Formats: sequence, structure tokens, C-alpha cells
Amino acid sequence: MKTIGVLTSGGDAPGMNATIRAVTRAAIAKNITVKGIYRGFNGLLNRHIEELEVRSVSNIIEKGGTMLYTARCPEFVPLEGVRKGVKICIDEGIEGIIVIGGDGSFRGAKDLSNEGIPCIGIPCTIDNDIASTEYTVGFDTAMNTAMELMDKVRDTAQSHDRCSVVEVMGRRAGDIALQTGIACGATSILVKEKDYTIDDAIKRINTTRTGGKHHFIVVVSEGFTAGNKIDANQIALKIEEATGVETRATILGHVQRGGAPTLRDRVVASQLGYHAVELLNAGKGNRVVGIKNNAIVDYEINEALSMQNVFDDELYKIAKTISF
Ligand code: F6P
Repeated sequence: MKTIGVLTSGGDAPGMNATIRAVTRAAIAKNITVKGIYRGFNGLLNRHIEELEVRSVSNIIEKGGTMLYTARCPEFVPLEGVRKGVKICIDEGIEGIIVIGGDGSFRGAKDLSNEGIPCIGIPCTIDNDIASTEYTVGFDTAMNTAMELMDKVRDTAQSHDRCSVVEVMGRRAGDIALQTGIACGATSILVKEKDYTIDDAIKRINTTRTGGKHHFIVVVSEGFTAGNKIDANQIALKIEEATGVETRATILGHVQRGGAPTLRDRVVASQLGYHAVELLNAGKGNRVVGIKNNAIVDYEINEALSMQNVFDDELYKIAKTISF
């Protein structure tokens, strides 16, 4: 393989830059030319493509966001759009593409592979919702950001003997809620994956209050609020009305997507970026890389997309048992 493309697509995640760097450097080390495709599949369709050299990716390993920018691209969904992309790849001499993003991005990668441009997907999303890997780049940073912010919310909840409802991101997955909930000693964790309800959270506040507890953190995943068609403010109101405990809501939002990637995200980004280049160079395409049992693995994209996410029920049980 002489020339490959690299793009970031979907929601950004801390560690995307570290992944771009690893891909670029690993490819150049094999004498492969790297072309950066800007703003995801949009950049391919609009030919916003520039060669990346060794120094183009200097001083980005520690930066949040993505130097290649990112976007969602509805034009790439119909086959017509994909075929237009293939033509542009051929014109540009791009023989394979590394797609950094989430499962929506991998569908684009699969379609391009099926039309003759081999692609390798690298899971980068704060949501940790890709079933074919135990870990997605960006998750650790997002969790640590949410944890730090929740600690701050907790300080003020404690000072005022209040309850704080904190909504975290994660799309349909409750992983960020679970991990930060346990790390911050949440009284309750409301996620779509479990049938634990707002009424259960209310009961728990009442019983733990009887046991001497004065402040309460209720962590809610956005999957829960979306699934129950309720927002964090409404949950707070329900809790306040039912318990008499003054309650405030905080929606952490996009702050969870920014910031310098943690060590774990930089290291995993480097491992997965390197492995993706190895696969493309070995003539493989239509695959996603990931981590299972601490080893780097790869799967055919369709197989990866058909896998089911497994929620960590044991960790949820632990959180429920020890937070009172
Ligand atoms: O996939 C990352 C994510 O931040 C989700 O947690 C969230 O549901 C979504 O993206 C938000 O998307 P947008 O940035 O388009 O509002």
C-alpha cells in the first residue's frame, strides 16, 4: 500500500488527535503516504484532503478535539454518496482509509470497503458503546472530567444538605453514569440498562436519610432521560416533591467531550492506531480494531456491529450495595 487516508467522524473524543498521530507516524514508518481527510466523510466528498507529514502531527498527542475536525455526513449514507467517495479516493491515489469514530462512522467504513476501498475503524467515542471492544478511546478522559465536576457538585450539595441530580452523556449507554456514579459515591444511578426507577431513588433517599445521610447525588445517564422522556430538572422536581429535600439538577453536557486525553486514552490511541495501519498494510479491510482481555483484537465490521453491549451488572450491584 502506497497511500492511505485518515479521517475522524461523528462526535469528537479526547484521544482522537493521539490516534491520528499514531496512524500517521506508523504509516510513514512503513513509507506509506498519509492523507488527512478533513471533517469526516464530508471532507472526502468535498475533496478537503491534505498530506500529513511526520511534523504535521507534532504536539497534538496531548490535545483534546481533533485536528482533522469532524462531522456527521448524511450524504454518505446512500450508495451514490459512497460511490462518489470511491471515485475521489481513486483520483487522490488513496488505497485505504482509517476511520476514527463510533459505530455510525463504521457503517460508512463498511460501505466504502464493500465498494473497493478497504477501511479500518478505530473506536473513539466517550460513550464506550462499541460492543466489539471493551474500551473506546475518550472514555477514560470523559469519565475523569465528569468525576471531577461531580466532586464539585457534591461539595455544594453537602454544604446545603441538598440532593443533586447530575446527568452525564453516553448516548444509549450507561457506562459513564455507572463508573462516575460509583467513583463519586452516588446514592442512586439511573441508567436505561436497569429497571431501577426514580421512585426507587426516592425510596433510597428516604431510607438513607433515616440512617443519617444529609446530602445525596443521583447520577442519571442521558439514555435514561431520553428513554423515559424526562429531563434532569423534572427528575429533580419529583425528588424534591417526594422527599422534601431541596434538589438541584446539573447537566454536564459537552464539557465531557473536551480536554487533554488521559494517559490511558493516549496509550490506547497509540496501540489501536498502530494496529490499524498494520492491518491495512497487510491488505486487510472492512475491519474494526479494539481491546479484549487487554489484547488488541480486530473484527469484520458487520460482525462487530452485530455484537451486543454488555452492561457491567456486577459493578452496578456493588455501587448499589455500598452507597448509603
Ligand atoms: O457520542 C458522543 C456524544 O457526546 C453522546 O454522548 C451524546 O449523546 C452525543 O454525542 C451528543 O451529540 P452532539 O454533539 O451532536 O450534540
